[in-house]
This record gives sequence, structure tokens and C-alpha cells, in this order.
Amino acid sequence: MSAKILITRRLPPDVERRAETLFTIKRNKDDALIDHARLVELAKGQDGILATVTDRIDAATIERLPATIKIIANFAVGTDHVDLEAAARRNIVVTNTPDVLTDATADIALLLLLGAARGAAQGMTVIREDTWTNWAPTGMLGVSLTGKRLGILGMGRIGQAVAKRAKAVGMKIHYHNRRPVEGVDATFHATLDELLEKSEFLSINCASTTETRGLINARTLALLPKGAIVVNTARGDIIIDDALIEAVKSGHLAAIGLDVFNNEPNIDPRYRDLPNAFLLPHLGSATLETRNAMGFRALANLEAFFAGKSPHDRVA
Ligand code: DGY
Repeated sequence: MSAKILITRRLPPDVERRAETLFTIKRNKDDALIDHARLVELAKGQDGILATVTDRIDAATIERLPATIKIIANFAVGTDHVDLEAAARRNIVVTNTPDVLTDATADIALLLLLGAARGAAQGMTVIREDTWTNWAPTGMLGVSLTGKRLGILGMGRIGQAVAKRAKAVGMKIHYHNRRPVEGVDATFHATLDELLEKSEFLSINCASTTETRGLINARTLALLPKGAIVVNTARGDIIIDDALIEAVKSGHLAAIGLDVFNNEPNIDPRYRDLPNAFLLPHLGSATLETRNAMGFRALANLEAFFAGKSPHDRVA
């Protein structure tokens, strides 16, 4: 008898087909968002949950999950939406999907750097609203990436992939991390403050944890050189929205590029009023190849677990 798995969202067809061959699947057919109470209800009689970043699995939810639930296989690398300590208290294993979304997410970081620096949002508005009057030598001037210092906050897998891409366009790489990363050819800064003082561009690539939430705030933003550009492909809660919006409005920042937000999808509406904000709806891992790979990786973790082995990507 195969394990019973609740899959909380629709997944790419190849992943769903494979899931059906491995487990007895309970699907969320219409792909509606599932709130805490519904998750607990749907989990009844199931052995595991394949969850995504839209499932807020906090301590209260975990405490109410049926005792049959033994594993939460997360379809994401980030696990900030799952209370790992609460899961550990109930002996629920939690896994994630590292590696397979590194390149796709780093691509989006490069897109944000370019889009913010070159005024892509304003350019698209001019085309869509048919307000382009003529080519002008002084019109719509952005800033070049080439030769500029890029500060990377969090030099993990994705940070390193961003560094590789940024080097290819001629940027000089600086970073702050808990400790220097071996084999990374970039300037390490032991403190965030020191990194920010040097960063003409800042790319946020750290995980959302109790230490990093709110790290980019009024005080830290003020340390960036005037005219700096900030991009975020990590998690919205690393940034304090009020502070970032104020830094753009005051002209301290020349532009921003965001793929992740606090309270997605109900983002702070003031972002929409900033012409120099290049904004995307959490597309970091959104390629078919990547989402397939994430799905297969989550299934591999479930398969290992139900075969009595330790899943490769266990985080709790
Ligand atoms: C992740 O994996 O954490 C992403 O944010 C979802 O693409």
C-alpha cells in the first residue's frame, strides 16, 4: 500500500504524473490557496504533505496536524513558511529543494539588476502607453553595471550564482556572509555595515531567518552610497518596506528591483507608484524546467523517507 500524500497546489503535469505512480495522492484540484484550518482538515488520513511557499505552516497548524503526518516535503528551497522547531517537536521531518532553482533564481537577480539600472519599468510604460516621442541623447539614462561594485548579502548557492553572472557583465563582487566562503573570488566583509558602505548595487540572497528579518532598514539603507540600487530575490521580510520606499522617494536609492515582497501577493501598494521600481511577482524559480526539477526533488525526498531512508534534503 503506497503512502498517502496531500499535494497542496497543482504541480507541473510531469511531476503530478510521477507522484501518482509513487503514492496515493490527494490533490487540490482547483489549485485554491489553502488556509490553516483547511490544511489540517485535508491532512486527515494522510501520511505526508507536499507543500509550497503559499502554505503558512506555523506552530499552531503543526500542533493540529493529524498524528499520521510524518513528513512535510517542501516544494521550495526557502523554509521560512514552516515552523521547523514545531515540526521537530512533533517528529515531523521537513525537506526542501536546494540546488535545482539556483540558476533560475540567479537569472532573475541579474534581470532585476539590469532592469532597475536601465529603467526597464519606465521604458515599458512609455511603449505600452504610447508616450515615446523621440530618441534623445539625454533621455531615460540609466546606470551601467560594468565596473560597479555589487554587494551580495548571503553568499550561499544562489549568491555565488549571482556573483558569476554579475562578473560576466564586469561587476566587482563584494559580499557579507556569516563566514568567508572558500573558493569564492570576491571581497569578504565581516560586517553588513562594511559591505553596505561599499555597495553601489546590493543583491539580497540570504535566507529569511530570525537574524535576517528586517536587516535592510532605515539605518542600514542609509549606509549605502547615494544612488545605490537594491535588488531582492530572497524573501520580502528581509526588507522593511517603509524604509525602502522612503529611500527611493528621497532619491537616496536610484532604483530598486524586487521579485519578493512582504505579504505576497498583497504587496505594499506604494511600490506601484515608484517609477524606478522594477517589480516581478516572485518569478525566481518560475521556469518549467526548474519547477519540474523542484517537484522531482520533493518526490525523491518523500520516496526516500517512505523507503525508510533519510531524505537527502532534510532540514528538520
Ligand atoms: C523558494 O524555493 O524558496 C522560492 O522562493 C520559490 O520559488
